[in-house]
Amino acid sequence: MVLLAQLSDTHFNMGARNVERAERVMAFLAELPQRPDVIIVTGDIADEGDVEEYQQARAALTADLPVLILPGNHDDRANMRSVLFPGSAGTAPINQSYSVNGVTLALLDSSIPGKPEGLLEDETYEFLTDLLAAAPADEVVLIAMHHPPVPVQSTVVDPIRLTNPERLAEIVAGDDRIAAVLTGHVHAGLMTQFAGKPLIVAPSVSSTIGCEWETAAPGHVPIDFAPDPSLIFHSIVDGRLLSMFRPIAMGGWLSEPAD
Ligand SMILES: [Fe+2]
Repeated sequence: MVLLAQLSDTHFNMGARNVERAERVMAFLAELPQRPDVIIVTGDIADEGDVEEYQQARAALTADLPVLILPGNHDDRANMRSVLFPGSAGTAPINQSYSVNGVTLALLDSSIPGKPEGLLEDETYEFLTDLLAAAPADEVVLIAMHHPPVPVQSTVVDPIRLTNPERLAEIVAGDDRIAAVLTGHVHAGLMTQFAGKPLIVAPSVSSTIGCEWETAAPGHVPIDFAPDPSLIFHSIVDGRLLSMFRPIAMGGWLSEPAD
């Protein structure tokens, strides 16, 4: 089994609250009897993209296993690189890959500097194409990025979703090794389909945003700061993906319900 933990939208903003939530999630993962092989964080690491926020992120998102972080629309590539990717200055897309026991993660940068919507640049598509060309025939491939490539009935993020999903749809539909696309951005946990494959959106560690049916009027943002942070476990057993949504109680662990 390969076990992946997906966190998203931590929005470090120099306040104590979001740090505490991220630290609680990381502590939960650190104490698991069976540890994940890798942790990914699918964007909006920082709230404003400031260097100090990435310093907060670097301190909170630490583990003794790989933690892979990709950018979202709130992130700043240059500042993110300077703190979280030392030695890789600049504003080029932050694309990464990670392979473990027959599973390859393609972590793509869907951010557009200075804009909230998403785009996969030609350079990013070439990165993905090259990665797939080099991957074994029986590999399980998961594509992770920040922006969902289709509308998800969110009045908040649908207008700022991925703007050029056509080429990605061709790649995903045409490669049996690609098991799913994983994103963040929505601040709600959901599953739908993209190019005939599961599209799995992780909830946010920092807040929850209601979808279309919670929106009272155009422009209303039904954001709820009360729910606990949540993550998704993705396990791959015999080539089959299972994704489990796991809220992490800020109030602590109750081994048995109180009377
Ligand atoms: Fe976000």
